[in-house]
Amino acid sequence: MTALTSTGAPAAPVPGAGAPLLRTEGLEVHFPITEGLVFERQVGAVRAVDGVSLEVHRGETLGLVGESGCGKSTFARAVIRLVEPTGGRIEFDGTDVSALKGSAMHRMRRRMQMIFQDPYASLNPRMTIGSMLAEPLKVHGLAGGAAASRRAQELVEIVGLPRNAVNRYPHEFSGGQRQRAGIARALAVQPEFIAADEAVSALDVSIQAQIINLLASLQREFNLTYLFIAHDLSVVRHISDRIAVMYLGQTVELSPSRQLYDQPLHPYTIALVSAVPIPDPRVETRRKRMILLGDVPSPANPPSGCRFHTRCWLRTELGNPERCVAEAPALRELRTGHQVACHFAEELMGDRRSALAAAAAEHSDARLTSAEESTEPIGHTTEPDVSDSVGPGEGLARS
Ligand SMILES: Nc1ncnc2c1ncn2[C@@H]1O[C@H](COP(=O)(O)OP(=O)(O)O)[C@@H](O)[C@H]1O
Ligand SMILES: [Mg+2]
Repeated sequence: MTALTSTGAPAAPVPGAGAPLLRTEGLEVHFPITEGLVFERQVGAVRAVDGVSLEVHRGETLGLVGESGCGKSTFARAVIRLVEPTGGRIEFDGTDVSALKGSAMHRMRRRMQMIFQDPYASLNPRMTIGSMLAEPLKVHGLAGGAAASRRAQELVEIVGLPRNAVNRYPHEFSGGQRQRAGIARALAVQPEFIAADEAVSALDVSIQAQIINLLASLQREFNLTYLFIAHDLSVVRHISDRIAVMYLGQTVELSPSRQLYDQPLHPYTIALVSAVPIPDPRVETRRKRMILLGDVPSPANPPSGCRFHTRCWLRTELGNPERCVAEAPALRELRTGHQVACHFAEELMGDRRSALAAAAAEHSDARLTSAEESTEPIGHTTEPDVSDSVGPGEGLARS
């Protein structure tokens, strides 16, 4: 995170400053939906990533959040070329990655690594941690034999695993330790960029904090650049310099991290932020949560205009303007470095903000209370909109 100046003195970290290491422009990943067994024909597409333009600067952590299914993993997988994009452009350190083939692609792969949610699934259960760490060194021709073993030993120590971890198998470790091994494996080839996809989502809160601290100190030590993905805003908060919020394959808000929590400007982000627990219990009991109505629409058939309009509390408060249904809002800068894709985001900047948000929260807290008091068995509620208002989106407005 901290850069060195020409005199060797550390410069103050400026989130989002400097040349982008990674840049996507209108990135698209559409998965075909086909019909027919013998003569397969395409009948539609899942628009998992649908025109995402983002930059990640060297030494920066860009947090990427949004409900499950909004395209975060597909975006990361496309960026490191585990999945083929169907449109747009990916540049890494100024090179068009989509044009790379063969050995040039192989060299590029070393520079971009990924850490996954379930370290057990991504680690080979029949390999010791030591041989698992030595493998990528051989594949990339970086070290073999005794040198690879020494490097494996060094790696387990860097990530805080016990020295004898090299001789042990993944199943002998706890979840947190396995994630440390996953991190060591990503670090083995000395990458510049790491996409951490829900890397701490399956861990207990106390272990989450340890792993996040480890990632932050590794970032400083090795000048790493991170794309840090989570479905839960509270997880990305402490590590991210900037945060991008995704909804149905698109970026709806992009902002310096602190500003996103203090002054979110997209109605979707405001609802997400309202669901983040506040550590102070006195504040926590008075907190107004917003409930997003309905399910996340299908990315195979996204709503017209603004994709969020079917669940938007701000649109309701404003009397359901037609524009939200008719016209897709572009991502535009409303404050320095703070971009929002909402036609009516200005309404949320001035004096009306708190009145609008309070009205929407009152509304949703009333719904929540009646849902909690309902004695009807789940699935047999007499008020369908109440049951619709809880459920979708992990980490979101849970009662
Ligand atoms: N290989 C695939 N084939 C078809 N659809 C896919 C594939 N991978 C992901 N999807 C769909 O793309 C959408 C985005 O998925 P994903 O990127 O995993 O979201 P997230 O990581 O935000 O939960 C989902 O609707 C998912 O079902
Ligand atoms: Mg995912």
